[in-house]
Amino acid sequence: MSGLSLTVNGEKVAVAVEPRTSLADLVRENLNLTGTHLGCEQGVCGACTILVDGVPVRSCIGNATACDGASVRTIEDFDADPLMTELRAAFNKHHALQCGFCTPGMLIMARDIVLRLGDADEQRIRIELAGNLCRCTGYSGIVKAIRSVIVARQRAGAAEPRPTLPLGPAGSGHAKTGADVSGAAKAAVPSSRPAAEASARKPVPVPSAATGKKAPAVKQSFSIASPLPVVWQRFGEVPAMVRCIPGASLVSEEADGTYTIKMRIKMGPIGAEFAGTASQQRDDASKTGVIHGAGRDTKSASLAEGELTYRLSKEGDGTRVDIEVSYLLSGALAQFARAGIVTHFIGAITAQFAANLGRSLSPESADGPVEDAGELRVAGSLGVALKAWLGELLRNPFRRG
Ligand code: FES
Ligand code: FES
Repeated sequence: MSGLSLTVNGEKVAVAVEPRTSLADLVRENLNLTGTHLGCEQGVCGACTILVDGVPVRSCIGNATACDGASVRTIEDFDADPLMTELRAAFNKHHALQCGFCTPGMLIMARDIVLRLGDADEQRIRIELAGNLCRCTGYSGIVKAIRSVIVARQRAGAAEPRPTLPLGPAGSGHAKTGADVSGAAKAAVPSSRPAAEASARKPVPVPSAATGKKAPAVKQSFSIASPLPVVWQRFGEVPAMVRCIPGASLVSEEADGTYTIKMRIKMGPIGAEFAGTASQQRDDASKTGVIHGAGRDTKSASLAEGELTYRLSKEGDGTRVDIEVSYLLSGALAQFARAGIVTHFIGAITAQFAANLGRSLSPESADGPVEDAGELRVAGSLGVALKAWLGELLRNPFRRG
């Protein structure tokens, strides 16, 4: 057990927890603050959002012991908070909740949006709320409610966007807004973008010719039954390769060797369509190639840029393919770029791609009609990372050079 002391809703708390205990379990199980809800428990839905050191974080993926010395506020602490009172009334008025499961996290996030972005319009609110999912799909009412509070505060002359502060990291106990930010006093404490969000949205480094910086990369390998020369040739045929990527479609091929590609992804209620260009360089002697790409999802205004390096080698009668993916993802969808999730799903996508590629090279399927080319549909927990991966690997690779 690990002992830690922190301030929760204005009160000093000392507890002993298992090192693996999440912050969400700490507040719910140890402190009985069950207003914090748990939905996905993997940092996706935002139901567990609470304030740590004055900034919203997803408590399900926060380690409790990492919050030693931090100041935590849960939804229970906002009963008398004036802004939260306005938001609750607006949520009621605009029918912004049905079952209410997402509501505590939504309210915490909404309050942060109003305080941090005093002039946010509907589009900006939607982007800021991208990390909070409502399974009742009450987004329209939620956005209207938040917007109405912003407008009311603007009319009352109360809208003063808070200055941006350097982030903690939240939960470290080192944030400037730490121990002194408790109880109602926290309502006036400036807070910048949620720490978890900021961290998640931080662009992931990508190998860049401009900066020369080497980025961490995800490596995968797979085998294809076809001989090396055949696979090597296929890797050079971008249109055929695109057909192996579920949801991808080739829009055009330019004379300069670049390709315009679209990528459609559907994850439950969330849809994205990435569009961009790609090009690749190949070295016949070493059987290696590098694909550079970049694209944009017009719905979420997310940008993706990436590099995929592949190396082919003979493996018995077949071919071994080693790939290495580096990427940069910014914008609303960057929240899905958590390393563990992305790595897991790059593996899943790679397997899908490898299967399609193998099928397309088999004698029975000479031209390789593979997966549904119209849209990649992702279900369950895989959805989140697949979307990230699509944004990074798939669409980047063939979108631009
Ligand atoms: S329960 Fe924490 S983000 Fe879903
Ligand atoms: S109101 Fe039911 S999940 Fe949002």
